[in-house]
Amino acid sequence: MHVQVISSVNESCSAKFHHKTALVIDVLRATSTIVTALSAGATSVVPAETVMDARAMQLPGDILGGERFCRKIAGFDLGNSPNEYTEQSVGGRRIILTTTNGTRGIHKSMRADHIIVASLLNAEACARYALELRRDIVILCAGSHDDFAIEDGLCAGLLLDCLKKQSSNPIDVDDFGHAMHSLYRDRADRVFETLLNSLSGKRLQKLGSRDDIETCSTINKINHVPYLNGDQLILR
Ligand code: MLT
Repeated sequence: MHVQVISSVNESCSAKFHHKTALVIDVLRATSTIVTALSAGATSVVPAETVMDARAMQLPGDILGGERFCRKIAGFDLGNSPNEYTEQSVGGRRIILTTTNGTRGIHKSMRADHIIVASLLNAEACARYALELRRDIVILCAGSHDDFAIEDGLCAGLLLDCLKKQSSNPIDVDDFGHAMHSLYRDRADRVFETLLNSLSGKRLQKLGSRDDIETCSTINKINHVPYLNGDQLILR
């Protein structure tokens, strides 16, 4: 099985996903939020590319969530903090979500045979499911401002660690993947600190969202795997 790691949404093109399983990562915060929302009982999450698309898709009873410039969008019900997505706020509801990088990454992966939403919170469960699907894998780090973001690379490294530990067959990894695996092994005991010192982490701290960084930095707390079914993300 071959695993390729793409450093940012900007570096991805649809041909790279053909016949593959895509694992999309946006640790701070879109994919952490999606996993949290579905685990809290949301029926599904529909990733929308633009604010206009999100508004157009909303049906009575749906929740509109997301961010631009890390802030809640005017008129939306929720922002992009995983801590807002509780059983009380989203249980039994469909969520239409649009974020700057995370939902864009999901849309960029649409040519893949399977799309899985991964984060530090659910990496082990995602790796297990990806192995079951028996396709080559593309790990897409969504990144931030069209650039690589270290927290996504760290999660890619964790996914590779889980894939290698769980697979009974050899896993062939590209050079960037090797680098991310080394990064993860180097930082495994300093994940929260690494996220705090990342560019996205600093930006979120300035906006008063330090709690979100703590929430998103917990490893393998959730055993659920969101995957794309039609245009909706649901739990496996
Ligand atoms: C994104 O999708 O760009 C991020 O999740 C931004 C954020 O942290 O709100």
